Amino acid sequence: MSVNKEVKRITTHILQEMKNRGEKIAMLTAYDFSMAAIVDNAGMDIILVGDSASNVMAGHETTLPITLDQMIYHASSVVRAAKRSLVVVDLPFGSYQGNSKEALSSAIRIMKEAGAHAVKMEGGVEIAESISRILTAGIPVMGHLGLTPQSIYKFGTYTVRAKEEAEADKLREDALKLQELGCFSIVLEKIPSKLAKEVSESLSIPTIGIGAGQHCDGQVLVIHDMLGINKEFKPRFLRQYASLYDVMNEAVTHYVDDVKAKNFPNNKEEY
Ligand code: KIV
Repeated sequence: MSVNKEVKRITTHILQEMKNRGEKIAMLTAYDFSMAAIVDNAGMDIILVGDSASNVMAGHETTLPITLDQMIYHASSVVRAAKRSLVVVDLPFGSYQGNSKEALSSAIRIMKEAGAHAVKMEGGVEIAESISRILTAGIPVMGHLGLTPQSIYKFGTYTVRAKEEAEADKLREDALKLQELGCFSIVLEKIPSKLAKEVSESLSIPTIGIGAGQHCDGQVLVIHDMLGINKEFKPRFLRQYASLYDVMNEAVTHYVDDVKAKNFPNNKEEY
């Protein structure tokens, strides 16, 4: 199916219609203006300003260190580039777990200062009160279940979640709760495809999968991973659409060689 580039701005309502008619939803991360412009122009439905910025932009080992101010900086750059895509921004670790008042004020800062269109939050029933309060203020919320990287020190590993029945049951309950609260969509990260299919079929709202198989209503990847900018990260679920590390490395090395060899600039490249 080709992308309808005539659509002015993707809304949560349009995403729901896409699920209803069986059209898959494409979501990709971006963290800066130039990348977001490319992603938006390609016809992306949702741009996620993920807290994965902590890893791929800042070089941290986990998503925990990134701050609300830093997320707002990345998000405002992306919003300036996005003409079509819905821009969803992660509430970073520590900005919503304390209490619902703090959660609401973090979400308001993201909407007001960055101009975002929605926020994403990791967790289920335990953050229900915060989700409700944010939704009551008119801010759309995307949920995130399964492997939730902000809880990495609880999990201890980035392996597949909800393989055991007890954890799968909790995920089923959480997904229904998030829908009941009014979330417009839920990310399902790194869970068995069979469970993702069951959850996607049981919900009326769209699910967006990452490492959760082909039956989710949409897919999301981290842009640095799918473009092959990160050479080391190659999990089974990742499809690498380019090898930009090699392309960029070759170009930059060529430039260094040209400067050293007095080959750049030449007389056509000067004033
Ligand atoms: O931060 C992020 O990029 C994410 C995606 C992996 C879903 O949450």
